[in-house]
Amino acid sequence: MISNFKNSNNYRSKIHNLIPGGAHTYSKGDDQFPLLSPAAIKKGKGAYVWDIDDNKFLDCSMGLTSVGLGHAYEPVLDAVRKEIELGVNFQRPSYIELEMAEKFLSLVPQHQMIKFAKNGSIVTTAAVKIARAYTKRNLVAFPYDHPFYSYDDWFIGKTQCDAGIPDEAKILSVTYKADDLNSLKELFAKYPNQIACVISEPEKWTPLPDNYLQDAITFVQAQGAIYILDEMITGFKTDLPGSIKKYNVTPDIATWGKGIANGFSFSAMTGKKEIMEIGGIIKEGSERVFLTSTTHGGETHAIAAGIATINEYQKHNVIEHNHKIGDLLLKECNELILKNNLQDYISILGDNWMQVFVFKKNNKEVCMGMRTYFMQEMIKRGILFQAAFVPCFSHTQQDIQFFTSQLNECLKLYQNALNDGYEKHLIGPPTKPVFRKFN
Ligand SMILES: Cc1ncc(COP(=O)(O)O)c(C=O)c1O
Repeated sequence: MISNFKNSNNYRSKIHNLIPGGAHTYSKGDDQFPLLSPAAIKKGKGAYVWDIDDNKFLDCSMGLTSVGLGHAYEPVLDAVRKEIELGVNFQRPSYIELEMAEKFLSLVPQHQMIKFAKNGSIVTTAAVKIARAYTKRNLVAFPYDHPFYSYDDWFIGKTQCDAGIPDEAKILSVTYKADDLNSLKELFAKYPNQIACVISEPEKWTPLPDNYLQDAITFVQAQGAIYILDEMITGFKTDLPGSIKKYNVTPDIATWGKGIANGFSFSAMTGKKEIMEIGGIIKEGSERVFLTSTTHGGETHAIAAGIATINEYQKHNVIEHNHKIGDLLLKECNELILKNNLQDYISILGDNWMQVFVFKKNNKEVCMGMRTYFMQEMIKRGILFQAAFVPCFSHTQQDIQFFTSQLNECLKLYQNALNDGYEKHLIGPPTKPVFRKFN
């Protein structure tokens, strides 16, 4: 049982005075974990990470879903090492940008052009901008029941955390219910000829209605708007490159990040030529669209990491491995939940590409306290669990057996907490939602 968090406690005591939020992604913050948990990670290898107290954990969320092959994965590191030796940033583009453009677009035959950046928000915002420029409309639409698309005004202004965003910006975003064609149609009826684009993840944790994605894309395009498929999470997970292939659809633009370079900072937007080219410089006399322009967008070793990642996915059929791991986890965990008679209190959403656990208290309401208690007990047992599992190429069947054996023990404890309340068992406060009005 892991109980030594001495260095972590020391880290926690300092970091919030130095870094607002104590991390550079709110979902990595201390308010997202139980008190008995690592505050910072020292290293990772394959499917495991070690914290600053040298505790070893099986990793479950794999760098916020960005590490699909495994931590410090050698073939990717080799490519990165080679590229670093050649220099990482130049006055002109690096040769590797052409190589990557061709390679990535070969995975997305629906699209002819690609633009690189360093994280997801840059490319989702760029996609929104080009859609507005192309359609000459202002409104941006996205599902209100999806968690996140960007830290920029057009998205954050619609969440609880809207401080710092002017009302003038907020009213330019409009929302509808995810995966609900009628809701989408009602939105377009309410704002005729005003919506520039719909941006949506292709799928979340519940199955899509039959033919939904194709129907939604066809409808939006018929309305003269742009359909942006945000494959930030689904990319390199549901398929290679993602749900665009799984459902064989042709959105106008797709946005990619997270897992496409095995954790290195590399993101991209791909799109149809007639739209993407308005961000270009060769059409004499056309109005300029300042699509994205970032000093580090062409950083060579991150692109090399991306190329090596694609090569590994193709060479080893990584998607198939990861889905097998996900299927196994789903099967074993669901059996254990049933065996422990907890099916009314713990459920698993998602599919073989990612699994999300939902925890409820004895009145069957979703409960952060019960969730945090479960996390605490899994973490004690060497599993860095944040209520989700993202299979990667380094996860083995043995890792899943380890996960399920520890889960089984925690399920027994869960029953006690259902009877007498998590407050008796949880050390420290429950985790809080990332999007909340007040701390
Ligand atoms: C669906 C989706 N889009 C965009 C983003 C933004 O990506 P990044 O954190 O790389 O800026 C995220 C991040 O979680 C995401 O989940």
